[in-house]
Amino acid sequence: MLEKREHWGSSIGFIFAAAGSAIGLGNIWKFPYIAGQNGGGAFVLIYLACIVVVGMPIMLCEMTLGRATQKNPVGAFKALSPNTSHLANLIGVSIIFSGLAMLCFKQFGWSAVLCAVGLLVMFYGWITVGILCIVTPFAILSYYCVVGGWTIGYIYKSFAQEINVGSVAEAGGIFGAFIGNTGLMIGLFLIFLLFSSLIVWGGVRNGIERWSKILMPLLFILLLVIMLRGLSLPGARRGVAFFLKPDFTKLSAEAILIALGHAFFTLSLGMGAMITYSSYISREQNIFLSSLAVVFLDTLVAIFAGLAIFSTVFAMGFNPDAGPSLVFKVLPAVFSSIPLGWLWAGLFFLLLSVAALTSSVSLLEVAVSYFIDERKWSRHKAVLICTLGIVVTGLLSAVSITDWHRIEWLHDWLVKAFNVQSGNFFETIDNLSSNWFLPLGGLGISLFVGWIWGTRKAVKEIRYGSSNFADVHLIALLAGLKDDPSHNDERYHVLTLASLWGIFIRFVAPVAITIAFLWMNIK
Ligand code: ALA
Repeated sequence: MLEKREHWGSSIGFIFAAAGSAIGLGNIWKFPYIAGQNGGGAFVLIYLACIVVVGMPIMLCEMTLGRATQKNPVGAFKALSPNTSHLANLIGVSIIFSGLAMLCFKQFGWSAVLCAVGLLVMFYGWITVGILCIVTPFAILSYYCVVGGWTIGYIYKSFAQEINVGSVAEAGGIFGAFIGNTGLMIGLFLIFLLFSSLIVWGGVRNGIERWSKILMPLLFILLLVIMLRGLSLPGARRGVAFFLKPDFTKLSAEAILIALGHAFFTLSLGMGAMITYSSYISREQNIFLSSLAVVFLDTLVAIFAGLAIFSTVFAMGFNPDAGPSLVFKVLPAVFSSIPLGWLWAGLFFLLLSVAALTSSVSLLEVAVSYFIDERKWSRHKAVLICTLGIVVTGLLSAVSITDWHRIEWLHDWLVKAFNVQSGNFFETIDNLSSNWFLPLGGLGISLFVGWIWGTRKAVKEIRYGSSNFADVHLIALLAGLKDDPSHNDERYHVLTLASLWGIFIRFVAPVAITIAFLWMNIK
């Protein structure tokens, strides 16, 4: 029998769950190291600008699509797409031609992929964006759960005092041996995936919402404790200055693009999560304020995590630009040099696992909701089959970082077909999803809402539950004329929050994403 569509129990439950989706490895593991590599304060400012200019408007798009249709991403695009779209046909034909052009460069793999995608666009039109939003979380989960497994391993290692080290090199050796243990990698990956699946198994209200309400406050408490510990260390101020004081001489064009790409990843945009979570809310919910709250909380956590990490790293005299290994190689060495370091390290990795768990739950829910809505499967069947799918791709990721030579044939095939020069399956799938799928998904969503479904219908949807929030006259507000009846006078060209949003969705976001996307992938 068809199950009735579930809904969140409360508005705050939805905000906790959506913030849980956004706050993840991206905030605590990735943001500090990319800020560290790209000059600190100046990068943070650019990142904040990307969040406001692209992240916030697209977040609102996704929430609007989800709530308006009460469906998963494919269902949402299906419900709102026109029967024929010239723009979609034009895009489809261009993709097919690009695929054929690839043949001249003997890029047979890419040629086949582009022709297939072009045909998909010709056949399914804008629904292809919804399909992309279902494929992307699968791709991300395959390596996200592997890193989630590392965090579990490091909780144990911290409390067992196995990462009490004297130097970064020593911590690096421990980390190398840890990820070199294939059996352990697979085991930890499966444990992390099992936790995520069990939460999704419980359903929207009894699983995701209930756990988000427990895990998110825990995350905030842990983060505050660790940040205050870091800030209280002698010499922490240099870390704070590095993180917050902008030095624009250190900013490269590439850093701007990295900031934009990260804005997508960290806000869980372009991966269907916000569409899916918003499909479980009712029209009483103010999605304008909800999207602001989620963006605010996500940004706050990224800033707090940066402060926590850099104050500690600088106080102990370490380098901030270690890259992806900052958390797993530098921090153990840093924690080892402060009193009760094992405890702080344990709490830090617990924080990281909690953040990763609430995000992986949201990604799994995207795929699960698709099968429930479109295939009419029961939740339990959908969770079981999606989990099995992720086991297969996740195993490839887990094995590829340790025993890549065991699946050399796959590597050789990838190199031959796609000219992937370096990297294993783990890196390839991370690169593919972050640099291709997310920007493309975001671009598709903004074009669809801005030009196809139309901002007029979207704003009408946003107005439900927003108590005219969308109609706040920005110019009147800034000028102190909010209560002056003349600001409603038609002679005044008023700029409302809704019209500003429409401009961002139709022009600013698509142009910014296209530039970033072309730069990242063609340079
Ligand atoms: N938004 C999630 C993160 O930042 C995917 O990790």
